Amino acid sequence: MGADQGHEDYTRNMATGASTSDLAVLLVDARHGIVPQTRRHAFIISLLGIRHIVLAVNKIDLVDFDQSVYDRLRVEFETLTLDFGFKTIMAIPLSALRGDNVSRKSSRMPWYTGPTLIEYLETVDVEQQRCEKPFRMAVQLVNRPNLDFRGYSGTISSGHVATGQQLLVARSGKISTVTRIVTYGGDRSEASAGMSVTITLADQLDVSRGDLLAACDSRPTVADQFDAHLIWMSEEPLYPGRSYLLKCGSKTTTASITAIKYKINITSFEHLAAKQLELNEVAVANVGLSEPIAFDPYSENSRTGGFILIDRFSNATVGAGMINFALRRAANIHWQSVEITKESRAKLLRQRPAIIWFTGLSGAGKSTIANLVERKLHMRGLHTYLLDGDNVRHGLNRDLGFTEVDRVENIRRVAEAAKLFVDAGLIVLVSLISPFRAERQMAREMVRDDEFIEVFIDTPIQECEKRDVKGLYAKVRAGTLRNFTGIDSPYEQPTTPDIHVLTADSAAEEAAERIVRYLFERSYF
Ligand code: ADX
Repeated sequence: MGADQGHEDYTRNMATGASTSDLAVLLVDARHGIVPQTRRHAFIISLLGIRHIVLAVNKIDLVDFDQSVYDRLRVEFETLTLDFGFKTIMAIPLSALRGDNVSRKSSRMPWYTGPTLIEYLETVDVEQQRCEKPFRMAVQLVNRPNLDFRGYSGTISSGHVATGQQLLVARSGKISTVTRIVTYGGDRSEASAGMSVTITLADQLDVSRGDLLAACDSRPTVADQFDAHLIWMSEEPLYPGRSYLLKCGSKTTTASITAIKYKINITSFEHLAAKQLELNEVAVANVGLSEPIAFDPYSENSRTGGFILIDRFSNATVGAGMINFALRRAANIHWQSVEITKESRAKLLRQRPAIIWFTGLSGAGKSTIANLVERKLHMRGLHTYLLDGDNVRHGLNRDLGFTEVDRVENIRRVAEAAKLFVDAGLIVLVSLISPFRAERQMAREMVRDDEFIEVFIDTPIQECEKRDVKGLYAKVRAGTLRNFTGIDSPYEQPTTPDIHVLTADSAAEEAAERIVRYLFERSYF
């Protein structure tokens, strides 16, 4: 297993609560000493909140069991990590190959009087530290074998629980008393960190998978925006505004990075400005969620303050994070309910609001067809609005260019605007290249399922280039225009569009007619 793979497994465990310890063993080669990779790993370990380090100085046999090499490495490492917040650093000279100081004391290093690696690992009691923290348990399963029993199963992340004690359901703020603690081996009167239990409560509360049960006198934070450290682990960069799945404990929700505050150069620890994050980069960022979750700052509790980010299409873990604090703005902005609803507006307009989302290459004919559709709807007395990429980029999105990061933001803003128009009761036509599947999916999820119609204007790039209405393909070929969709910037084709228009077989007029018929047949008007 490579170092990065091991790291990924560790962070996955960290957020799913299946991790084993709050101690890390960092291996260095006595011949090479502290290398950049050591520094990098030590930094990541510190971000993960691990406070106890074993510096295993391996291959000490290859430097003739020389005490001065060991001493130098130990001091160098301690100096290097002075600001990392490590509580203990235990440097052990060893030879893994020969077993010296691994499980058996070495006679060849009389100058070393400390414990062997195994002895040391056995004496460090990390479970004990977790027990001393406030009670937390993420509900992994609502256990209802029959009508008489309703229990909440999970592994206790930290602290103690006892029957008769009051517990809080963190997200709803509801409180109830523990009536039973059921385990595989029978009922218990109390349980503590690390144990798998099923807890029953005196009251019928609304508790579901992903909820966090917590001690009443030490409440977790509940918020939908927070500041966090992130480690990006995917070849594909992180783009602010893109939607990912965030898993914290047993709770999964959709999330996006709303701003990268800075990334950290992990050799010099300098803070650098960043628009996106590449593989292995570390940053401090604001994270926004689609709903509030319960958590603790990672520095207080690594089990309830760590999370992973998952790609929504590949299901791969693409990042790991450590929550620092909730953003105050999250607590101070509330959804204001209004009396006139989307439904009442739509009724007055005698139509069903929807977004008709046109995607395709530049020059594919999106705007031409969208214009024709809007004209036809307008003539039928329908209330419409057309959001066209070129036009929106003159105002609302004037600050955005054509890098991937900027396109993600362009699409996000247009989708948000379209959502508002849908709320106003309108039939909204959006004409954007919108080259990324992830953002089209995000736009779809902003409204009800029947309110989003994806229209793929499928024109081969050769045909777009031949038309070249705006002369842009000519500029690309002349080398004066870069990041051009379909040439040196990707276009991810829709796999299941609601309407697939092959412009090779149909004229714009015919395509527009087909779209209007689609709306009519599905009773949009
Ligand atoms: S998107 O990728 O962010 O969805 P959008 O639809 O807003 O793009 O804007 C695309 C329009 O900008 C194109 O129709 C074209 O006229 C113009 N344009 C200018 N530069 C580029 C480029 N590098 N790639 C694609 N379109 C470009």
